[in-house]
Amino acid sequence: MLAERILAVQRSPFYSIMELAAKKGNCIYLQLGEPDFTTPKAILEAAKKAMDEGHTHYGPDRGSHELRQLIAQKIKKQYGADYNWEDEILITAGGQAGLHIAVMALANPGDEIIILVPYYPPYLVNTTLAGAKPVFVTLRSEDGFIPDAAEIEKAVSPKTKALIILSPNNPTGAVYPAGVLKRLVELARAHKFMIISDEVYECLVYDGLTHTSALSFPGAKEHVVQVNSFSKTYAMTGLRIGYVAASADKLLQFLKYHHTVNISANVPSQWACVTAMKGPQDSVEEMRQAYQKRRDLLVKMLNDIPGVQCNTPQGAFYALADIRELGIPSLEFAEYLVQEAGVVLTNGSGLGYEGFIRVSYAADERKIEEAMDRMKKAVLKMKSSKK
Ligand SMILES: Cc1ncc(COP(=O)(O)O)c(C=O)c1O
Repeated sequence: MLAERILAVQRSPFYSIMELAAKKGNCIYLQLGEPDFTTPKAILEAAKKAMDEGHTHYGPDRGSHELRQLIAQKIKKQYGADYNWEDEILITAGGQAGLHIAVMALANPGDEIIILVPYYPPYLVNTTLAGAKPVFVTLRSEDGFIPDAAEIEKAVSPKTKALIILSPNNPTGAVYPAGVLKRLVELARAHKFMIISDEVYECLVYDGLTHTSALSFPGAKEHVVQVNSFSKTYAMTGLRIGYVAASADKLLQFLKYHHTVNISANVPSQWACVTAMKGPQDSVEEMRQAYQKRRDLLVKMLNDIPGVQCNTPQGAFYALADIRELGIPSLEFAEYLVQEAGVVLTNGSGLGYEGFIRVSYAADERKIEEAMDRMKKAVLKMKSSKK
């Protein structure tokens, strides 16, 4: 009775890890894909005020005028790109909806979508739902998981409709250099495909680096769809607001999809986003600094575990650690860690990348420390039982 397109989507094995963890109890969760910080007070107050003042009806389908104006100004100021707030910005139910809309509205069945591996799993799910064919390009830890435009070009065919990129990256933490992004935009222009540029972690870069948007290059507007979000920057995942920036002709088509599924994005949450953008950005910077400290602690402790090796990620809040030396599949290892140590993390195989595990540092230092101590003991036990 169900459609083939949904049956073709695999249920993530990760659910079985979560079920194991629930049974085990007293677990430390380092699989988190969301900030553990409380949403800044001014943002919460704005959402409450909007509800108290009766802003609880449908909003404009493309999103609040004020919010779209602020986003267009931000894009101009931060990335030097001109986007017209009236018809080139669409407010969505998180970046997740933006991704889905972009893939569904761009790809025909049979088209090819290039996905960089390891990947954020919804890229593959959206590609499958659109009936498109994923074409994988595998990145290497030796290259810091930075894509090579020449290798991507080899994967391009006349059927290529889009390339999905993500910087700062989940799960690798890589921040793509401006030169690489520029080359990718040039490729898209030369071979006439679209880049869906997921930039939801744009504010989470460390070590003095800055994020470059794919929007900032000449000719990008015709070839780039930027998917962005308020979720990670302002620790407001539950308020569900993101946005898409694209040329007016494309955005008009995206709107059909958005309107059919959502009518408009959550209205009180959009008021909260206006406050978030207009107010001081101190809390964003405080959270960023806290993540950097946590990252340093996590990477140091991961590298102190025999058989585990981890490079320092420069963005987002994930570390992708190499466990190949342990000689155990990543799902099995993740299950073992839950059962033996009560530590929950993500198996790389679920992200298309066997031999690695993803550890999130969107958790406080005490939890990270305790989890890494437990993980080290569990790994030592596993090693000694193999002897
Ligand atoms: C890479 C990436 N893109 C998009 C999203 C979607 O986030 P949201 O829908 O909360 O904006 C996430 C969430 O984890 C993510 O990691």
